[in-house]
Amino acid sequence: MPAQDVLLLDLRDGIAVVTVNRPDKLNALNDEVFAALAGVVAQVEADPAIRGVIVTGAGGKAFVAGADIAELAGQTPAGAEARARRGQGLFRRLERCGKPVVAAVNGFALGGGCELAMACHLRVAARTARFGQPEVKLGILPGYGGTVRLPRLVGRGRALDILLTGRMVDAEEALRIGLCDRVVEPEAVLAEAEALLRGILAMGPAAVRQVIEAVDAGCTAGIDDALAGEAVRFGLLAGTEDMREGMAAFLAKRPPEFRGR
Ligand code: COA
Repeated sequence: MPAQDVLLLDLRDGIAVVTVNRPDKLNALNDEVFAALAGVVAQVEADPAIRGVIVTGAGGKAFVAGADIAELAGQTPAGAEARARRGQGLFRRLERCGKPVVAAVNGFALGGGCELAMACHLRVAARTARFGQPEVKLGILPGYGGTVRLPRLVGRGRALDILLTGRMVDAEEALRIGLCDRVVEPEAVLAEAEALLRGILAMGPAAVRQVIEAVDAGCTAGIDDALAGEAVRFGLLAGTEDMREGMAAFLAKRPPEFRGR
């Protein structure tokens, strides 16, 4: 299958819908998918017409069932470390692309799939979705950020439960512990992800970007540094037309018209 076909990109009125497209392999992430995803992330970063991103998987069964185990099977220690760095770097770029990213988790989100979903800013899950980090069952650990993002999302104890047992987490539990943000019927996942994202895109774009960056920076900083960073961003936004428009619209009891300036 040619590289462009393993990843589909559909531009819909400011939203890039990115679909991992290997349904016969439950959308497992192989080298071709990674190469294509790197190209798409670069496009998302560079194209001002793309204002938000949805990531999903093709077919009704899986979001992404993990890294492609057939490719992992023969890896050497140096190759495996390089593979982890590549995956981590790409997911980090997606997380820091400057635009809101929503995962539409339409089925299994296991291993690298769970890690991809966690690198997105928000997760909408099908009622039938299953999350998990089953790497211990393969004698490895999650290498694309799973040991780092999962405890940040759900807390250390719950993360260790999921990471050490390799068990699957159903959508209701994922919602309860903060691993996903919405649960809907399977046929509604993409529409719900789009509605959520369109709602965010109706806000001031600079404010949205600053919130994402403040939370990203604040999660790893000490409380005083995080608060200082928040104050700086608060000041930056006070210099935007969008802040004046947002407040003027509130006071005039009309909807705001943000221009991204
Ligand atoms: N890498 C490579 N191939 C994968 C894969 C992965 N992570 N996950 C699924 N596939 C392939 C299967 O090998 C199978 O291919 P085949 O039809 O050529 O034999 C196909 O996708 C369908 O999967 P199958 O296992 O038959 O479906 P199932 O409904 O019986 O089970 C899962 C679904 C998700 C429970 C099972 O596929 C699974 O455990 N996958 C691996 C999950 C994992 O460990 N991910 C972390 C990897 S680091």
